[in-house]
Amino acid sequence: MTTWQKSDWRSRPRVQMPDYTDAEALAAVEAQLAKYPPLVFAGEARKLTAKLGEAAQGKAFLLQGGDCAESFSEFSADTIRDTFKVLLQMAVVLTYGAKLPIIKVGRMAGQFAKPRSAPTEVVNGVELPSYRGDIINGFEFTPEARIPDPNRMLQAYTQAAASLNLLRAFSKGGFADIHRVHSWTLGFTDSDEAEKYRDMANRISDTLAFMTAAGVNGDTMNSLSVVDFFTSHEALLLEYEEALCRVDSTSGNWIAGSGHMIWIGDRTRQIGGAHVEFCKGVMNPIGLKCGPSISEDDLRTLIETLNPKNVPGRLTLISRFGAGTVGDHLPRLIKVVRDMGANVVWTCDPMHGNTIKSASGYKTRPFESVLREVQEFFAVHAAEGTIPGGVHFEMTGKDVTECTGGVRAVTDEDLSSRYHTACDPRLNASQALELAFLVAEELANRNGDAAAAAAL
Ligand code: PEP
Ligand code: CO
Repeated sequence: MTTWQKSDWRSRPRVQMPDYTDAEALAAVEAQLAKYPPLVFAGEARKLTAKLGEAAQGKAFLLQGGDCAESFSEFSADTIRDTFKVLLQMAVVLTYGAKLPIIKVGRMAGQFAKPRSAPTEVVNGVELPSYRGDIINGFEFTPEARIPDPNRMLQAYTQAAASLNLLRAFSKGGFADIHRVHSWTLGFTDSDEAEKYRDMANRISDTLAFMTAAGVNGDTMNSLSVVDFFTSHEALLLEYEEALCRVDSTSGNWIAGSGHMIWIGDRTRQIGGAHVEFCKGVMNPIGLKCGPSISEDDLRTLIETLNPKNVPGRLTLISRFGAGTVGDHLPRLIKVVRDMGANVVWTCDPMHGNTIKSASGYKTRPFESVLREVQEFFAVHAAEGTIPGGVHFEMTGKDVTECTGGVRAVTDEDLSSRYHTACDPRLNASQALELAFLVAEELANRNGDAAAAAAL
């Protein structure tokens, strides 16, 4: 039995969280949320932990992706469907290359709160508090919008519940049936990648037709008609997380009911800090962002704190260093993990270390840097004899122009055309697919499967 309490984080130093001015309104919202049903259940979190445990051993691979920040204004069935479609396409490509089960986890249905590099922002000489995600304050650049409003938590909960409902329907209701592999393409992705995807889909359809003709049916075919899809987000706004925290009646353990997997950001991983304190007590699989500033000692303590029983799949280390610097940092972290004999899933977030300001003034990410960080991640793991267990992307099913480069090259000048993100620049559907082909090739090569690599 644990003596940990879901409110213990309150006595710890907190960073990146809003100062709500109306304590009464905040308490009312927390009380309301505490009465609502949790969004996810303990059995699902256990299942995801078990799958991630496979990824830690190289028997599965994690694909985690979605918006940097979900927003209230962009919320629609089409937005969710299109992101889901791209993730399904990427998963097909990865399965083909890796010949491994792909664990599909969306940055969806809860990814609302954002850490910021500065507490205020200045536009045309006017200084206002920074936007911290729709669950906290408004994007609009006005003093009123930027005041943290606890009622936004209720809207975030409602949106997360509706999103998860649709994702569950898509996953189990026929949409994700592999026989529909052709139907997941998006109209505008008319590129080499789309062509390659169609070829692959044709081969898969042929194989399925062959299996049916050969008499394979029943359970095997049924299992191809559904997928497991999980949700994840950064556990940043701890009032919200605490209000949705529940005791699992089967095990007596605490579970964060806000999403299947939660992670600790690179700016909130202080030892003894509020975010680590909250995450250590819940049974969900936990992600830990590891940027260039993480020290070996910190990593050791964080692993001991977050996964004291060394459960495979409990802890995913999400490295995000920036292209050109993976070799400076990943080997020293791998050494810590190896010396401890720790079970972790190593994944690569090639987005957050590669953000730059373009000549036209937009925050962007060059696609070449994103690709390069992924390649460096695989190269270091190959050299160290360790296992690359997954990838973590900010992407969308929309035809946006937020990251430069890619086969359907987005230029600096194009950025202004369809720049819709509420926070960081995302890969568009065609860039996401291009990246999936690259990762699939790395995985095929890792397995020594030259035939699969060549067929991609
Ligand atoms: C994010 O994932 O959106 C994020 C802010 O990442 P990091 O904590 O790695 O900077
Ligand atoms: Co981001």
